[in-house]
Amino acid sequence: MTDRTPLIVGNWKLHANHLEAIQMVQKLSYRLDPDDYDRVEVVVAPPFTALRSVQVVIEQDHMRIGLGAQDVYWEAEGAFTGEVSAPMLAKLAVDHVIVGHSERREHFGETDETVNKKAKAVIASEMAPIICVGESLDQREAGSAEQVVVTQVKGALARFSSDEVGALAIAYEPIWAIGTGRTALPDDAGLITEIIRDTVRDMTDSSAAESVRILYGGSVNPGNIKEFMAKRHIDGALVGGASLDPDKFAAIVRYWK
Ligand code: 13P
Repeated sequence: MTDRTPLIVGNWKLHANHLEAIQMVQKLSYRLDPDDYDRVEVVVAPPFTALRSVQVVIEQDHMRIGLGAQDVYWEAEGAFTGEVSAPMLAKLAVDHVIVGHSERREHFGETDETVNKKAKAVIASEMAPIICVGESLDQREAGSAEQVVVTQVKGALARFSSDEVGALAIAYEPIWAIGTGRTALPDDAGLITEIIRDTVRDMTDSSAAESVRILYGGSVNPGNIKEFMAKRHIDGALVGGASLDPDKFAAIVRYWK
């Protein structure tokens, strides 16, 4: 089995202006030690308006914190008012881009097809997409969680090569667990992440399936991270609310200590 480096990503969502964001990344960096970074890849994803400021602080202070964006548009440039392209993000030293978050699917009309186009654009600019999938409460109660997630994974990864898939991350975020304080049962999350890896294997090959990192997201906090990370197919976490508090986020990164 391939050793996958755990990946812990803070999705700050619509929080923090650029000055607040600078303080947050500085506080986080004070709380992490070199052995944390040796063990875990740490990424923060502030809003677009804070990316440049956070990038400068990361570079100046030689922080080993990766920079993530929360969305992207698939065209490189053109008459697309309000959009931000993958080459623009790559130029800011962004290394990960969250694609297809359920909030974007719900409020901004994201579909499996647009997720696929965005993920392609991210890879073409040599960054790694973090593709979000997950079922709603109705879907879970109807017993269709697995089928929903498999369909989303297949749609997002359509026409991807094995190498492309191996380099990306998939975040399983059950919608009913986001921001609710209610997490998936670790066993359920373990099962769905295994199904995701099997789906990747069916679509590509074993090497991509062993390399792709699968994250859990949904009310992750310092008290529950360990249980999720103990699951064989969970390689990290996509953290919302708790990532806004540098103490909590650092404690999540240090789950292994
Ligand atoms: P919470 O950690 O606030 O539940 O958010 C999860 C999430 O949506 C991360 O992308």
